[in-house]
Amino acid sequence: MRTVPVELAERSYDVLVGAGARHELAAVLPEGARRAVVVTQANIPVEVDPGVEHTVLTIGDGEPAKTLDTIGDLCSAFSRWGLTRNDVIVALGGGVVTDVAGFAAASYHRGTRFVSVPTTLLGQIDAAIGGKTGVNLPEGKNLVGAFWQPSAVLCDTETLQTLPPRELRAGMGELAKYHFLGGGRLDELPIDERVARCVEIKADVVVSDEREGGRRAILNYGHTLAHALETAGRYDLRHGEAVAVGLVYAAEVSARLGRIDAERVAEHRRVVQAYDLPTTVPAGTDLDEVVRLFGRDKKAIDGVTFVLDGADTADGVEVVTGVPEDVLREALDSVL
Ligand code: GLY
Repeated sequence: MRTVPVELAERSYDVLVGAGARHELAAVLPEGARRAVVVTQANIPVEVDPGVEHTVLTIGDGEPAKTLDTIGDLCSAFSRWGLTRNDVIVALGGGVVTDVAGFAAASYHRGTRFVSVPTTLLGQIDAAIGGKTGVNLPEGKNLVGAFWQPSAVLCDTETLQTLPPRELRAGMGELAKYHFLGGGRLDELPIDERVARCVEIKADVVVSDEREGGRRAILNYGHTLAHALETAGRYDLRHGEAVAVGLVYAAEVSARLGRIDAERVAEHRRVVQAYDLPTTVPAGTDLDEVVRLFGRDKKAIDGVTFVLDGADTADGVEVVTGVPEDVLREALDSVL
């Protein structure tokens, strides 16, 4: 078992990574917690034992469950069951569960402790680490939320075996991102070490910029195109698949701005292909719409904003604003 600390002063916690990490739940329960509510989904084939009196609540599946109504329902259920502020909420599932249960924890009694047990690759290497919690509004994704750090995170790599093959492969798209954030040849590592290395990189970024004043935005490498494709909403793409194409696209944009050479672009393609993920946008993608959506990205404060490779910093990538539209359009031609 690997332990990766997330050092945030009084909000510090450990991330345990390895096969069977979920069995450590009772050991990592916050001090004084006498009761627990486990928040999960009906289709999560994983159980946990908090080692104290507990109940299990299920929320719906997928993005439609990420609503303020779900938060209200959960908090009412916590209250009816008598959960106190000294008790604990356990999030057991993928990114939807950890985002929702984490936000319910942030809100209930103005802040209740929670432990995350992410069961998907995406949850383990991204969503459950770093305290971003929240839900969607009809107006957009993740528009309401809170930074609320968990008391512990248990990344049990055994649970990855329960994932449908496409879901696991899609998670590798998010993992591919870390190759370019200092991870190097992650594909050569066994899965436990790969997850632990991604968690280390994410923890380092979060510790330096917990509330995304700047550096934390690099975690969105590959995400601008991904979000545009997801917002368009017509394409049969998982988040990690969209990020995979987004990484290649971001490299093509960087190359056109003279930030990286052709070899580095080829490296992006090699990594994405190594995970058997797409390097092109879906057939029939409406390119005008995609360019329009770039400008509506949540991070687009000052013109079209991209995280781009070729930075003169240890991270290798950085946030670049005002990328010209002709560059964006030309680069799209290379991911058709
Ligand atoms: N998923 C990006 C972040 O946690 O900042």
